[in-house]
Amino acid sequence: MTVDEMRRELQRRLKKNRFAHSIGVANTAVKLAKKFGVDEDKAYIAGLLHDCAREFENADLPAEAKKRGIEIGEVENSAPLLLHAYIGAQMVTEIYGVDDTEIVQAIYRHTVGAKNMSALDKIIYFADMIEPHRDYPGVDKLRELAETSTNLDEIILTALNESIIFVIQKGALIHPATIDARNYLLLAEGGKNL
Ligand SMILES: [Fe+2]
Ligand SMILES: [Fe+2]
Repeated sequence: MTVDEMRRELQRRLKKNRFAHSIGVANTAVKLAKKFGVDEDKAYIAGLLHDCAREFENADLPAEAKKRGIEIGEVENSAPLLLHAYIGAQMVTEIYGVDDTEIVQAIYRHTVGAKNMSALDKIIYFADMIEPHRDYPGVDKLRELAETSTNLDEIILTALNESIIFVIQKGALIHPATIDARNYLLLAEGGKNL
């Protein structure tokens, strides 16, 4: 599929505001990719398709995950919306013909992060938080950081901190992958760029 075809297919499958969000993430990801020397085409495609599994209603995600052999952990069981990342990582190949492992991984990791995230993973995770349609307390601070900081690890650490604080304020469970992502950045091996 060409990128044009992907965009049309996605538009057909997603609700209007979800599609607009996807375009916002794709364009924001390209800007960040330019700044941090990441492949811009991969950033666009990963951003565009990161939420492709949102074509399913939230209530259908657990059944869709089971059908695909995706394991539902304790945290996902309590917050089934998280499953859209893992389902989407399969759908990009099935529906959109994307088999690039870096893109697939960035989509898989876009909701809760992971230990040792790639630059593309980080860019998609962050673009998802700051694309122009996002509106929540603190988003402007993160957008400003994207402009002023030249350190992607500093940006992603701030983003992980904000996510964790948000989840705590909601009284929800913190996904272990988010803690892994943050710890890895603070430890010697992952923190050498901070
Ligand atoms: Fe998402
Ligand atoms: Fe998203």
